[in-house]
Amino acid sequence: MSDQIKYLLDESRMPKAWYNIAADLPVPLPPPLHPGTLQPLGPSDLAPLFPNAIIAQEMSTERYIDIPEPVREVLCQWRPSPLFRARRLEKLLGTPAKIYYKYEGVSPAGSHKPNSAVPQAWYNAQEGVKRLTTETGAGQWGSSLAYAGGLYGLDVTVFQVRVSYDQKPYRRALMETWGARCIPSPSPETEYGRAVLAKYPDHIGSLGIAISEAVEVAAQQDDTKYALGSVLNHVLLHQTIIGEEAILQMEMAGDDPDVVISCVGGGSNFAGIAFPFIGLGLRGGPNAKKRRILAIEPSACPSLSRGKYAYDFGDTAHLTPLVKMHTLGSDFTPPGLHAGGLRYHGMAPLVSHAKELGLIEARSVHQTDCFAAGVMFARAEGIVAAPECTHAIRGAIDEALRCKAEGKSETILFCLSGHGHFDMASYTNYMSGKLVDQEYDEKELAMALSMLPKVEA
Ligand SMILES: Cc1ncc(COP(=O)(O)O)c(C=O)c1O
Repeated sequence: MSDQIKYLLDESRMPKAWYNIAADLPVPLPPPLHPGTLQPLGPSDLAPLFPNAIIAQEMSTERYIDIPEPVREVLCQWRPSPLFRARRLEKLLGTPAKIYYKYEGVSPAGSHKPNSAVPQAWYNAQEGVKRLTTETGAGQWGSSLAYAGGLYGLDVTVFQVRVSYDQKPYRRALMETWGARCIPSPSPETEYGRAVLAKYPDHIGSLGIAISEAVEVAAQQDDTKYALGSVLNHVLLHQTIIGEEAILQMEMAGDDPDVVISCVGGGSNFAGIAFPFIGLGLRGGPNAKKRRILAIEPSACPSLSRGKYAYDFGDTAHLTPLVKMHTLGSDFTPPGLHAGGLRYHGMAPLVSHAKELGLIEARSVHQTDCFAAGVMFARAEGIVAAPECTHAIRGAIDEALRCKAEGKSETILFCLSGHGHFDMASYTNYMSGKLVDQEYDEKELAMALSMLPKVEA
């Protein structure tokens, strides 16, 4: 059908394995380092925080890793997710470009995050873990882990960044509905939270601080582990089901993207849609056409475009291993922008490495331009996107307008990582003119970068 809108894969065609880009990288990823010895980490160093199966995935260089059947059964509740052709948006823009989007808002929590929450909770339950702790920004990851933990009888505690906790009260209600406990961070419940509050009683919080609190609690209790919603290799691995499905759906559409776009916070939905396409290119052969891969981030927190590629801590209290990534410095507190899921000082090591290898491009955009794109998209396509993925929409619209100016009919694919039904206050602020573009403090950035740990190259 020439004017088809949706490309739906049958459940039986849902991928049976995740794709691990580590197998195809021309240069291996620099290893994570122990924060005390600065030596490469071994699996036992991660054992207090993660179950063995997850540690093995974190370090694996196998190209494909099987998705356990019980996990596939849960994912089938909403997967394969639909691929849409944005015909009405194309028309509105008057572009010769073809725009496709892979919609991850169909999951129970409304975003891509359950793609990793379900396997993480399952592996933990298999290894006898009773309780999980985690951080969350906008609440998408916290609610996803609340849902997934509930499936396997795990007790879930979520430290939510204070500014988002206040901006998005219904995300907390969702976490509680699924049986989790949600605490605003910095909190008086941990030693680190108390230290931050003693110095700054009104601190708006950051993902780096919330991670420190969640890690502190998990490290102290034998039956408790920690789950991370982005950044680490295993999380990116779980998200590749997005791109593996998209490859099959683009085939159904008889098309192949010239440009693949996604927003980046810690890098998981970006890796999810992009890595399988990058893998096609790296492996060569008939599917190896040249594709541009574009990561869009907020100009208020531009880790990929402005950060330094260096070893840094994943959290503010420096409890985590050191990983090599693009970072604004673990002491940097990004402004309280509405895309709370993009307020992270660092970037996934695999995404950072891909940027260093020239496999991807990065671009930063202002939040008002993103909301303008989100409103245009909602009016054309009907879906109200989460503030995070209005960044991807902005990127896709800008590429489509470039195609119009150049008279080119390129194919654009982007990941619409979640819906914005819990983010309507941000849209109200935008439409009433109250939303402003926040700039980060250059002095604070310089200070945070000057405090990066000193590690020999
Ligand atoms: C809908 C949505 N998209 C994107 C992100 C950014 O995270 P990541 O870069 O790991 O995909 C988040 C994070 O909370 C999110 O909720």
